[in-house]
Amino acid sequence: MSDIIDLELIIESGISTVFIETADEERVITLFRRLSVRNGKALYRWSVATGLSRLEGDFPARRQAQKLADVLAQISQATTAGLYLFLDSHPWMDDPLTVRLIREVAQHSDHDHTLVFIGPQIEIPAELKSLSARFELSLPTQEQLAEIIHQESAAWGERNRRSVKASRSVIDAMTQNLLGMTLSDARRLIRQAIYDDGILADDDIDELVESKYRMLDSDAVLTFEMETAKFGDVAGLRHLKKWLQQRRAVFLADKAPAGLDSPKGILLLGVQGAGKSLAAKSIAGAWQLPLLRLDFAALYNKYYGETERNLRDALHTAETMEPCVLWIDEIEKGLSTDDEGGPSQRILGTLLTWMAERKSRVFLVATANDIEALPPELLRKGRFDEIFFVDLPRSDVRREIFRIHLQKRDQEIENIDLEVLSEATDGFSGAEIEQAVVASLYSAFAQQQPSTTQHILEEVRNTRPLSVLMKEKIDYLRAWAAERTVMAD
Ligand SMILES: Nc1ncnc2c1ncn2[C@@H]1O[C@H](COP(=O)(O)OP(=O)(O)OP(=O)(O)O)[C@@H](O)[C@H]1O
Ligand SMILES: [Mg+2]
Repeated sequence: MSDIIDLELIIESGISTVFIETADEERVITLFRRLSVRNGKALYRWSVATGLSRLEGDFPARRQAQKLADVLAQISQATTAGLYLFLDSHPWMDDPLTVRLIREVAQHSDHDHTLVFIGPQIEIPAELKSLSARFELSLPTQEQLAEIIHQESAAWGERNRRSVKASRSVIDAMTQNLLGMTLSDARRLIRQAIYDDGILADDDIDELVESKYRMLDSDAVLTFEMETAKFGDVAGLRHLKKWLQQRRAVFLADKAPAGLDSPKGILLLGVQGAGKSLAAKSIAGAWQLPLLRLDFAALYNKYYGETERNLRDALHTAETMEPCVLWIDEIEKGLSTDDEGGPSQRILGTLLTWMAERKSRVFLVATANDIEALPPELLRKGRFDEIFFVDLPRSDVRREIFRIHLQKRDQEIENIDLEVLSEATDGFSGAEIEQAVVASLYSAFAQQQPSTTQHILEEVRNTRPLSVLMKEKIDYLRAWAAERTVMAD
């Protein structure tokens, strides 16, 4: 277990407030019991229900102060070093007195106190951010998961006076699918699977996978995207679609055919609104795979100080869902160039290592607008299978984009002159064309008329496309891409 070592490091580094977001409070308490044995500090537990009591050793649980602010005031006076665990204290973090007292203990303690706040949802008050660390429990291994299945089966068996029926292969499949979950979530899912009928079978695996997706959905760093797209929703990008179609079978094969490497991923680079995000979604749709989205920005917010480890966890969770498509939208935003050795350097390092070493069938699709902000290491040959440039749509593709978006909104396209619209929108992005279609529907509706070519043309004429406003930037991007990338269309 490296958790205890990591925690020890945090505490020894002099950080005196630690926030642990978990539903698994028992596990944290156990961890600290062991830690207090190792470092000889007194261990206390506080909750609003039971107040403060001493936990370890032979001390009887003596009821002490109940109110958090009183307890903190007491701690600031205490002279022997202590580890204090506060359970579900987040409602009091809105109280200025409480926050101030925490800060005083943290800043002025000569006595080496450590305050640990534990709860299912934690937001660190701004006043405490620079003084605190966030700590995440590591995820259980496959052996540990098998052990939980064993424990839960035994408990069920004892209660029902018969044993749980399960085959080795189902247990293997279960533990495989539970990888990436926290201990308490895994235990809950295992119970669910056992308790309905006392049998662990294939249908339990299906249910488990479904529950797992639903749980992922509430996680901010890695989300399960319900909405994918079809290639049919995307106009143009013919070359990209063909490339993908040629690789689908190889990617989905258990073992890549001799001489071929399993596809690993692509980078979609291009002009704003040209359909990069849409294309990423359509890959999952076309390959009929789950689409997982990794949000780099959330990685920084959520896991203050713990970013790389949590990127690794997120990548690991994605791997447990193979085969799948892992989408990192606007990758440059999460990798802003900072100082040598800064957090985004380390994030990049973690990502590159994973890309180079992974064996799992996770197809990475990253998108980016801003090449200036992209670290050159990411563009080096061999990182991605291919870097595609998504340019503004040419005239035939624009016609197609009009058709797609008009039909999507139940418009009769027989009466619309797609040719004229396409000609009038040279330099428009797909997003801008879609916008013109939407706006024209409103203006037609306001005039109580069916939407016509004229309505759309009016909206088109009112639009100053980005390609005009940002001409230099786009020209530069194109010139850059011409030498280094493959055209997506
Ligand atoms: N080639 C296309 N075919 C059909 N619709 C398109 C196309 N390109 C863009 N669109 C429409 O414009 C919307 C916005 O495009 P999308 O978000 O995919 O662009 P993007 O390249 O990711 O832009 P950004 O760089 O701003 O993130 C899409 O949801 C879609 O409705
Ligand atoms: Mg996008």
